[in-house]
Amino acid sequence: MPNVKLKLSQHAYRLSREALIFLNEWYEKIFRRPEDYERVAEIGKYVVKHIPDFLIEYQIPDNLETEVFGLKFPSPLILASYEHDLGAIEKYLKLGLGGAIIKTATREKRSGNPRPRLIREKKKYKIGDKIVKRECMINAMGLPGPGAVEMKERLENSDLFSYGRPIGISIGGNSTEEYLDVYKTFSPLEYEKQFREINATCPNTPDGQNLCKKPENLDKLLHKIREIDDTPLFVKLSADFDRERNLELVDIIAGYENAGVTIGNTKTVECDKISVGKGGLSGPCIRDVNLKLVEAVNEHKLENGYDLPIMATGGLSSTEDVVKAKENGASLFGMATGIVQNMFVIPEINCELSDK
Ligand SMILES: Cc1cc2nc3c(=O)[nH]c(=O)nc-3n(C[C@H](O)[C@H](O)[C@H](O)COP(=O)(O)O)c2cc1C
Repeated sequence: MPNVKLKLSQHAYRLSREALIFLNEWYEKIFRRPEDYERVAEIGKYVVKHIPDFLIEYQIPDNLETEVFGLKFPSPLILASYEHDLGAIEKYLKLGLGGAIIKTATREKRSGNPRPRLIREKKKYKIGDKIVKRECMINAMGLPGPGAVEMKERLENSDLFSYGRPIGISIGGNSTEEYLDVYKTFSPLEYEKQFREINATCPNTPDGQNLCKKPENLDKLLHKIREIDDTPLFVKLSADFDRERNLELVDIIAGYENAGVTIGNTKTVECDKISVGKGGLSGPCIRDVNLKLVEAVNEHKLENGYDLPIMATGGLSSTEDVVKAKENGASLFGMATGIVQNMFVIPEINCELSDK
């Protein structure tokens, strides 16, 4: 950890998180409630938003700057799309993220799936030749959110752009038309350092994976998007689809200017603790499958001479994970579960990467 102040803050944060998890588990046992980690996540977020800045502020070392599509990310660590509370995102930027992607916006306001829709699980996970138990999450949030117009207003009235870090907006929808409408809503947003992420792989809405199931629809959508503007964009792929399908999608994406890929989303699993019976697994147990896909896409990109930046996402929670993702061909590194579990991992990884 870079300094004593951050070390102490991290200890306090860890202790309070463990206490919160413990109390929640007792509450669920005593009142015979189904497991629901969203309760902990909501209280945790409230605490994060109210932590005094001086306890978490961290200066990103100069040697971590990464340029993609002409956008300068002061650190290659990015908040993966899962949060639309801009106050919480600001705190993560203060801790040293190089950029952030806002949670997927849809055309209309959505309440998402019924609860429970987020649970925490300890799963077995292989590190080298050791099997260890690590915390993962399964979610089927179903894209709850305020809707694109309201989200744009919130962004414009926030301080998020004052950090000068690239901000991504994740675009979602249940049809090509909806994606396009949401894209258009954010097009007039005035900020130099913005990019988009097309969430082509949401496992938790009825048609959220249609752009991957029907690659011609992705092509159509990208074509129409490029008639609107040339804002840099990433298309979010998923290991829910096989290598061949993903490479087919990469061939389409590589045909467009300023377009890269995010690999990837959560991995769909059956889960009877979730209201809809299935959800997306995230955290350490999806690291290897996602990094394997990063490697395959990078090889394909080099073979074909594509100019296609890769943002690795999925199970990254340590410097070792980030280094591995970089070796496999990624230049940016998205994190969601790792930050929910321990947001102080942001300055820790920055500091260790800077010393390498
Ligand atoms: C609670 C939760 C909500 C998420 N919401 C979104 C979303 O709105 N859009 C999206 O593209 N990905 C979403 N994701 C997926 C993450 O962006 C990320 O791709 C995935 O969790 C794998 O990374 P991780 O292992 O670091 O969590 C969500 C993940 C979680 C855990």
